Amino acid sequence: MIVSPSLLSADFGYLNKDLEMINASEADWLHIDVMDGVFVPNISFGFPVLKYVQKVCRKPLDVHLMIVEPQKFINEVKDCGAEIMNVHYEACTHLNRVVQQIKAAGMKAGVTLNPATPVCMLRDILPDLDLVLLMSVNPGFGGQKFIAGTLRKVKELRELIAETGSNAVIEVDGGVNAETGALLKAAGSDALVAGNLVFSAEDSTAAISTLKSL
Ligand code: DX5
Ligand code: ZN
Repeated sequence: MIVSPSLLSADFGYLNKDLEMINASEADWLHIDVMDGVFVPNISFGFPVLKYVQKVCRKPLDVHLMIVEPQKFINEVKDCGAEIMNVHYEACTHLNRVVQQIKAAGMKAGVTLNPATPVCMLRDILPDLDLVLLMSVNPGFGGQKFIAGTLRKVKELRELIAETGSNAVIEVDGGVNAETGALLKAAGSDALVAGNLVFSAEDSTAAISTLKSL
């Protein structure tokens, strides 16, 4: 299982310590939640913080933009060293263009779906995607309860990926723990985001290892 701990739940007073923990752990990526207070009812952090994270973190950055008009910030995200740039389906009027621009900038292109958006909306863009990020909570906050209907969406998406000949990785974000993680693995997920689970654990490294070995 690919594991992407979410920085949103880190202790910002000790960011360096948390980033060094990630570096030394079995985490595959670091998930970075950027929020604008418009697309989601919360604001997290922006590019100056990402610049710092880029300096310290040795894991690939999996950037999840919960913002309107994400196409305006492709160069900024690239300059922060992002490996994957995830934009919301619901935030892009011209999704095909945005995906091509992300790839032309040299990043992997990910598209994120809110819980109420069906996976069939991605049929025509799937062959162009490197990743699909399925939200298993309504985006905006860490520590929320997993929406069980996501399991069916993962299965549907797995079928659609096979049908369309896509190579997209399936990543799930929100309410992931050992139990929901195991269910998601069985449903066909390739990657899991985990914020609260990792950073509220007494042993964060062990929490990452638990997901890794699913
Ligand atoms: C929610 C964010 C998530 C969040 C997940 O809007 O996209 O990445 O950090 O947090 P947990 O794992 O605590 O549900
Ligand atoms: Zn996220």
